[in-house]
Amino acid sequence: MQLFSFLSILLTAISVKARPVERGVFDSVGVLDDVLLLDAPAFPDPANSANTVIGLQAFVSLRQIDLGALTTGVEAALKTIGLDIGDKLSNVQERIRLFGAIGLSGKNVKVDVGGCSQLASLTTSGLPDLGMALQNVSVGTCGGAKQFTAQVTTSGLDSRTFNATVFPSPNSGFGVISDIDDTVKVSNVLDKVALAKSTLLDDPVPVTGMPELYASLAKSLNSPQFIYVSGSPFQLYPFLNSFIDTTYSASKGPILLQNLTLTNVQELLDFANSNGILEYKLAMIDRIHGMYPNKKFVAIGDSTQKDPETYGEAFRKFGGDFISCSWIRRVDGANNTDARFAEAFQGVPANKFRTFTDADIPGLQNINVAAGEC
Ligand SMILES: *[C@@H]1O[C@H](CO)[C@@H](O)[C@H](O)[C@H]1NC(C)=O
Ligand SMILES: *[C@@H]1O[C@H](CO)[C@@H](O)[C@H](O)[C@H]1NC(C)=O
Ligand SMILES: *[C@@H]1O[C@H](CO)[C@@H](O)[C@H](O)[C@H]1NC(C)=O
Ligand SMILES: *[C@@H]1O[C@H](CO)[C@@H](O)[C@H](O)[C@H]1NC(C)=O
Repeated sequence: MQLFSFLSILLTAISVKARPVERGVFDSVGVLDDVLLLDAPAFPDPANSANTVIGLQAFVSLRQIDLGALTTGVEAALKTIGLDIGDKLSNVQERIRLFGAIGLSGKNVKVDVGGCSQLASLTTSGLPDLGMALQNVSVGTCGGAKQFTAQVTTSGLDSRTFNATVFPSPNSGFGVISDIDDTVKVSNVLDKVALAKSTLLDDPVPVTGMPELYASLAKSLNSPQFIYVSGSPFQLYPFLNSFIDTTYSASKGPILLQNLTLTNVQELLDFANSNGILEYKLAMIDRIHGMYPNKKFVAIGDSTQKDPETYGEAFRKFGGDFISCSWIRRVDGANNTDARFAEAFQGVPANKFRTFTDADIPGLQNINVAAGEC
């Protein structure tokens, strides 16, 4: 509900400026377009494990965005809840930019993935995911590097570079599925004003001890695939990605966000509703299971929204060989009752999940997750 209020503020501020622009089908990316290429997970092709498949995602929009009107609207909306932009104008503009972006359908995005034998090609959708492309693309054989750089092929006239990191991982070993807001980053999801402030104005702050914990998991689990699954809208991707890249540099990984568009108010309403987040996150865990059915995952989240319910349901669906362990941060002000966790983790053995307070964070490093402890 709090998130809904927050988003409705944004939505009101922006009004419905984001009108769909339909252009010629299968247009390639040109100088009038902007491309957001997201970091992506890669997995061995189930049909031929010598080949690599990437779950590649891109968003193509019109290059010009009227940041002035957008900023004025957001500034006014923030004032109504008592927040002043002050000297944070550049933060605000960077973070709201994509909320004003006008997605373009039928755009063909060609991506060259360093070290792989085939080019990838994606086509953006029409409504309701206007401008978004999310496809599994086969890129042939790739070298054994730990990461690949994917770069959008632009026309000769265009000197811009759009790139992202591809994280390949085998269908074995460990992975970490992690929430972002109030799990690795202080977001104050339970407080509308504080959430708006941490999301739009302030420099991001990690939950104390979590970067060190993730760095320790990166070692003890032998370079697990980190995948961040958050209910936030994809428009916040540049902000969240730069936060993870810098603050969680030892545990970088793709970030899966909701593909909400401002032309689809219903989707925004669904996002606001926590059950929508639960369904979305379960769908993302399904997707991850499809990519890595034989990996063991540690699922890390918090008690503000539906992470306990999501991870409990994922355990019941895929079993303890896949959801090996769930850790839930107890956030002050959230429902941290035994009754809630008992219900969420019904059917999950007590040694397969734990809740933790901030004081417990340093001690989590001593749990031998690789040996099956949780
Ligand atoms: C966007 O989200 C909707 C609803 O969750 C889903 O059906 C659709 O496949 C998604 N599209 C993309 C491109 O992610
Ligand atoms: C990605 O593109 C930026 C320019 O936008 C460039 O500075 C950077 O070196 C590129 N990264 C890689 C790994 O190619
Ligand atoms: C990509 O393939 C995996 C494995 O089959 C599947 O789980 C996932 O849903 C697919 N993703 C998309 C976007 O089609
Ligand atoms: C906490 O969750 C439990 C289980 O869902 C529920 O019965 C209880 O009413 C909730 N308490 C609060 C204060 O929301």
